[in-house]
Amino acid sequence: MILNLKHILWLYCLCELHLTLAFSLSDSNALSIIRPVTGSLSGKVNLPCFFSTIPTSAPVISPNGTVIYSEDYLRIKWSKIQGGTESTVLVAQNGVIKIGSSYRNRVSVPSHPEDVGDASLTMVKLRASDAGTYRCEVMYGIEDTQDTVNLDVSGVVFHYRANTSRYTLDYQKAVQTCKNIGATIATFEQLKAAYEDGFDQCDAGWIADQTVRYPITEPREGCQGNLPNKPGVRSYGTRKPTETYDVYCYVDKLEGEVFYAPVTYKMTFEEALEECRNRKAVLASPGQLHAAWRQGMDRCDYGWVSDGSVRHPVAVARTKCGGGRLGVRTMYRYRNQTGFPEPTRKLGAYCFKGKNSLQDARC
Ligand SMILES: *[C@@H]1O[C@H](CO)[C@@H](O)[C@H](O)[C@H]1NC(C)=O
Ligand SMILES: *[C@@H]1O[C@H](CO)[C@@H](O)[C@H](O)[C@H]1NC(C)=O
Ligand SMILES: *[C@@H]1O[C@H](CO)[C@@H](O)[C@H](O)[C@H]1NC(C)=O
Repeated sequence: MILNLKHILWLYCLCELHLTLAFSLSDSNALSIIRPVTGSLSGKVNLPCFFSTIPTSAPVISPNGTVIYSEDYLRIKWSKIQGGTESTVLVAQNGVIKIGSSYRNRVSVPSHPEDVGDASLTMVKLRASDAGTYRCEVMYGIEDTQDTVNLDVSGVVFHYRANTSRYTLDYQKAVQTCKNIGATIATFEQLKAAYEDGFDQCDAGWIADQTVRYPITEPREGCQGNLPNKPGVRSYGTRKPTETYDVYCYVDKLEGEVFYAPVTYKMTFEEALEECRNRKAVLASPGQLHAAWRQGMDRCDYGWVSDGSVRHPVAVARTKCGGGRLGVRTMYRYRNQTGFPEPTRKLGAYCFKGKNSLQDARC
């Protein structure tokens, strides 16, 4: 969706941007279809849905001559449309609200929708898997209103291990490390949302509230922590800031473009830096690579990233690439998954071009 929009904007951009074109585009329904409501992982969004509050049922004259409008019957139904099937998000009728199991404690509608004609859905603790198309159906009196709205959810939580070894970051370094790689230290809410989407990582890492945790969706030996045999986010509790662990970082939307340097030769780390520079770009940070992966980047070649690590993004599961697993794969120097590869190794490069320089380059 985002790629489509970008593409269209580039097209306008290329054929000399006319303001008139831009306005007619924003007036047309087409844009409301291609521009979805956007939210961030663990954040909050409002999916709009409005209806007319004009009474629609016929008035009734009572025996003593007064005119009564019978209570208009109101029913609100929100569902998610996925591959031709619909799943119920929320149904509100006669003050009774039913909520689909994966939306429990996460969705609501206004408490008196009939007064304001507003049946918008508020969704909190957003997950990546919440992205998609939602339908709102309002039956009020004899009126039946329907609308669909698309939701996009940006942001990804990822595990980060320093170049030296496992568990080497104290709290302060953990915070700084996420910043250095184009991200921020993840909050508990972000880690929890990522876990709900299936994030599984058996490495203890700092998060923003100075606790140390790790997400396990498939309980197994050696990763039990404080929740034996149960899925869940493990916690070591609040730790002294001098203790050392890995870290969980968070990155939101990508403000630009990550691309694999389109060359046939392989490069050392220094050569990779140079290659991106020659393309008026820079080596992508691990944060940027994760954000690009989250937006669908898929590439089976390992490439250098700005911190001297080597990674590649897998967005489409296949056994021959990343062992059938999804995510950004990391090449470590040692079998015990520590250390970055020697900078002299010959590999590909992931470059990043910021939004502004993209515009300069293309317009
Ligand atoms: C007229 O009847 C309705 C019920 O049918 C009642 O609620 C209302 O108070 C009555 N009005 C008068 C003026 O008697
Ligand atoms: C690890 O990275 C730091 C900078 O973050 C650098 O100063 C140091 O030389 C690197 N160490 C190794 C072993 O690559
Ligand atoms: C990982 O392996 C390397 C090389 O075999 C070793 O030097 C290092 O101490 C190991 N690190 C951990 C955390 O086990």
